Parts: sequence; C-alpha cells; structure tokens
Amino acid sequence: MLFAIISFSVLNCSEKNAHGFSKGLKPITGISGQQSSKECQSCHKEIFKEWEGSRHKVAFANDLYRESHSREPLTWCVNCHAPVMRAGGSPENISDRMFRDEGISCIVCHQRGDLILTSRIPKNPKTHIYKEVPEMKSGEFCGHCHQFNFPKGTGNVPHDKFQYSAQAMQNTLEEWKKSFFYGKENCQDCHMEPAGSGREYRTHNFPGGHDKNFLKKSFQVSGKMINRNSLEIRIIGKNIGHAFPTGDLFRTLIVRLLDKQKNEIEKIILRYDYTVNEKYPGDRNEPSKKIRKSNIIPAPVSRGESEYVQIFKTGGEAAKKIKYYELSIHYIGDSNKLWTALPDSITRMVIDVQPLEIEISNGQISGDSG
Ligand code: HEC
Ligand code: HEC
Ligand code: HEC
Ligand code: HEC
Ligand code: HEC
Repeated sequence: MLFAIISFSVLNCSEKNAHGFSKGLKPITGISGQQSSKECQSCHKEIFKEWEGSRHKVAFANDLYRESHSREPLTWCVNCHAPVMRAGGSPENISDRMFRDEGISCIVCHQRGDLILTSRIPKNPKTHIYKEVPEMKSGEFCGHCHQFNFPKGTGNVPHDKFQYSAQAMQNTLEEWKKSFFYGKENCQDCHMEPAGSGREYRTHNFPGGHDKNFLKKSFQVSGKMINRNSLEIRIIGKNIGHAFPTGDLFRTLIVRLLDKQKNEIEKIILRYDYTVNEKYPGDRNEPSKKIRKSNIIPAPVSRGESEYVQIFKTGGEAAKKIKYYELSIHYIGDSNKLWTALPDSITRMVIDVQPLEIEISNGQISGDSG
C-alpha cells in the first residue's frame, strides 16, 4: 500500500499531466479561490483582452456550441467547454460549473490549488506562488482537449459509466504528430505567436477557424487544364500544422468556382465525412458514427505546404468561363444546414473571393490574348 502511494507521487512529480486533464472524462476541481478571469485582468491587461476575443472565452457561450449541445445534451461536453466545477458540485449538474461564460478561462490552464502554473517560473517572482509545468510549452498540453475519440455508443450515460471508443472524433494532435512540423513548431508557435515590439509574451487570442485574416493567408487555389477536357484544381494549405479541416467533426471548407457574374460553375467540399456505423447499436462498444471517406487537405509532410487536388471532367469551354473562386468555412457542415435555426452569418463565413487563373498549357493563362 505504502509502495503504491510512493510510486503514485513519483509519477505526479514527472509532471506529465500536472493539470489533471482527463480528455473530458471529468470536470476540473480543487482550484482555491475559484477566480474569474476578471481577477487576472487588472495586472494582465493585454493577455486578458486577447483571450476575451478568443474562442476559448466563448467555448460554452457561443451559439454554435449552444445549439449543438441542446441537441446532444451530454454533461461530457461541458467537461471541455466549461470545465471548472465548484467544490462539492455534481459532474452531472451543469449549473455546478463555474464561470460558464468564460469557457476555457485563465484558471483552466494556469491554476491548480493556489498555485499558478507556468512553463518557466519568472526570476524574482513577487506576485504568485508558481508550479513549473514544462508541458505547457508542448503540443501535448493542447492535445488534452484537442485530441479525443467518439464515445462508445452515444455517450449518453452518467459520468462514471462514460467510455471512449477507438475512433477519433478530433484528431488534431495526432495529425500534427504525423506532420512535417512535429518537433519543429508546436501548436503554441502558430496559435500563440509571441507579441511583437519587444513585449515578449505569448499572445492569447488563439486564432483558428473563426479568424478571417489567419484563414485568408493559409490557403491558395490554382487551376490548370491537364488535357482538353480535364480541369485540375489545387487547394493548397500554407503552414497549417495538421490537416484542414481539423477539430470539430462538422467543420467544412468549401471552394466555389464562379463565372464573371459570380454564378457557381463547380464546387469542392472538404471535410471529414462520417456515416452511421452499422455495428452500432448492436454493439454498444462501437461509436455511433464512422469515417466514410474524407476530402481534406492532409497534414503537410514536407516544407509546410500540402494540397487537395480535384479534377473536373469539364470541357475547355466551361473552364474558360471560370473567373473567380470563393473560399468559405462552414461550422456545421452542409447536411446539418437542414435542421439548424441559426442564420448563415453564424454558421458560415466567406474567407475570400479572388480571381482564378487557369493555366491552359505551358504556362499560358486563360484570358490571355493570343
Ligand atoms: C496584482 C497583480 C496580478 C494579478 C491580479 C495576477 N497577476 Fe499574474 N503576474 C503578476 C506579475 C507582476 C507577474 C510577474 C512575476 C511575479 O511577480 O510573480 C505575474 C506572472 C504571472 C504568470 C507567469 C508569467 C511568466 O513570466 O511566465 C502567469 C502564468 C500569471 N501571472 C497568471 C495569472 C493568472 C491566471 C491570474 C488570475 C488568476 C493572475 N496572474 C493574476 C501580477 C498579477
Ligand atoms: C488554453 C490555455 C490557456 C489559457 C486559457 C490562458 N493561457 Fe496563459 N498561457 C498559456 C500557455 C500555453 C502559455 C505559454 C507557456 C510557455 O510557452 O511558456 C501561457 C503564458 C501566459 C503568461 C506568461 C506570458 C509569457 O508568455 O511570458 C501569462 C502571464 C498568462 N499566460 C496569463 C494568462 C491569463 C491572464 C489568462 C486569461 C486571461 C490566460 N493566460 C489564459 C495557456 C493559456
Ligand atoms: C481545457 C480544454 C482546452 C485546452 C487545454 C486547450 N483548448 Fe483550445 N479549445 C478548446 C475548446 C472547447 C475550443 C472550442 C471553443 C468553441 O466552442 O469555439 C477550443 C478552441 C481553440 C481554437 C479555435 C478553433 C477555431 O476553429 O476557431 C484554437 C486555435 C485553439 N483552441 C488552440 C489551442 C491551443 C494552441 C492550446 C494549447 C496551448 C489549446 N487550444 C488548449 C479547449 C481547449
Ligand atoms: C505550423 C503552424 C501550425 C501548427 C504547428 C498548428 N497549427 Fe493549428 N492551424 C494553423 C493554420 C495556418 C490553421 C488554418 C487557419 C485558420 O484556421 O485560421 C490552423 C487551424 C487550426 C484550427 C481550426 C481548424 C478548422 O478546421 O477550422 C484548430 C482547432 C487548430 N488549428 C488547433 C491546433 C492545435 C491543437 C495544434 C497542435 C496540436 C495546432 N493547431 C498546430 C497552423 C498551425
Ligand atoms: C475532450 C474535449 C471536448 C469534448 C468532450 C467536447 N468538445 Fe466540442 N470542441 C472541443 C475542441 C478542442 C473544439 C475546438 C475545435 C474546433 O474549433 O474545430 C471543440 C469545438 C466544438 C464546436 C465548434 C464550435 C465553433 O466555434 O465552431 C462545437 C459546436 C462543439 N465543440 C460541440 C460539442 C458538443 C455538443 C459536445 C458534446 C456532445 C462536445 N463539443 C464535446 C473539445 C471538446
């Protein structure tokens, strides 16, 4: 018994998971003082402001989450989207979650007990008592929430019965681990870029699929006639450290090819594609959904670029009509559009509309005179 206790605390000291994150199996408890992020605001003004505009701040309060949670009202969801539970609360009771409107608040990542968790303790600390957690510099830290599997069955069971299946539901950490960037740049390097002009700290706005500017500079689309009847469209992801789309299973990137009047001629839909798993409900150890096929931009394996290529059997004349492409991101997927009550302004965002140059042969561009 004594031996077991000692080896447990030795394991604890290795700081593998000092936060006690459980991939959403249980809420976070035991934070003394239970501080709202507003308590940090007075001294960490810039970081607070950045975080306040981030998706982490609205992880529980945003409309997309609210609607999907009301359709699938599992308390499991809340373990990631509003993880802090008040002392003595019940994990099944959503009203026992504190600061729900702060979603992934400062203390979720930075406080346990009365200690402030940081990857490097500042010299001459005056304000906080710290716990050094080197893991906070790593992709694995983010993966505690950004990598997890489908529940077994529908997951609609009490907390102590909940189990994960073997099928990934969000695969961002694993995608990154298979990419060119693994060991070179991690999630923080791209999603928490250091603030410029001498103020050396990691920014906290966590740009991603809702950040138009970040999205805009991450894609490039090009076209080429590879023979008289085949138009090849390449959608290139630039410096994306994983596949795209990634994360939430409904995330979809749509590229529409448009004519001069901006009417659609062709459309490319990129997403992880799920279908009903026929082994479920017979086998309750199975997830309710399985991956069918996926049209995605894969994680880059070299240099930092990767691409999705689609070929249209279109005549040269049709291809000549294509003048623009429109890139848009859809947060709930095409098929779900049927049931949602949310307006387009929330369920999708146009990232960019740009002229599309189509190479006909030997570098000649469509529309070139001669
Ligand atoms: C009264 C002002 C004040 C408040 C309130 C405050 N901090 Fe700090 N914090 C500081 C100062 C000053 C430092 C610099 C080092 C030191 O003095 O300990 C710091 C350092 C830190 C660091 C480590 C920085 C590094 O260099 O790695 C973290 C993380 C941190 N604070 C998080 C928080 C969080 C989370 C909250 C709210 C729960 C909070 N702080 C509230 C003043 C404050
Ligand atoms: C999703 C997790 C997460 C959330 C939420 C979060 N932080 Fe951080 N914070 C980090 C990570 C990761 C680092 C950088 C660790 C490293 O690389 O050293 C960091 C660094 C810091 C630092 C040190 C600055 C630096 O880079 O020198 C301070 C101070 C800080 N955070 C305060 C806050 C405050 C205040 C909030 C809420 C307004 C907050 N953080 C919310 C993850 C988070
Ligand atoms: C406690 C769980 C948790 C941790 C730890 C965490 N995240 Fe998140 N993150 C979330 C949730 C939940 C969302 C979705 C918020 C929403 O509903 O839009 C999210 C959203 C994001 C987004 C925005 C995605 C989008 O499409 O807009 C980015 C980027 C992100 N996280 C990066 C990170 C990085 C980088 C780290 C590590 C430093 C990290 N996260 C750590 C839970 C977490
Ligand atoms: C080399 C840089 C890089 C690295 C490393 C990286 N990302 Fe990203 N990430 C991007 C870019 C670029 C995008 C696409 C632009 C956007 O979404 O605004 C993106 C998008 C995302 C999105 C939104 C996805 C969507 O489909 O809308 C999430 C969530 C995310 N990243 C999380 C992570 C996590 C977690 C890690 C670490 C395991 C990570 N990223 C590592 C660059 C990176
Ligand atoms: C293990 C942690 C975890 C659990 C459990 C979890 N999520 Fe998430 N969720 C995330 C992360 C991380 C993201 C951010 C990835 C992204 O934006 O693509 C996210 C994103 C989302 C989004 C997209 C929000 C947006 O801003 O576009 C929705 C909607 C969502 N989750 C709903 C749910 C629902 C409903 C459940 C329960 C059935 C659930 N989540 C369970 C971690 C989790």
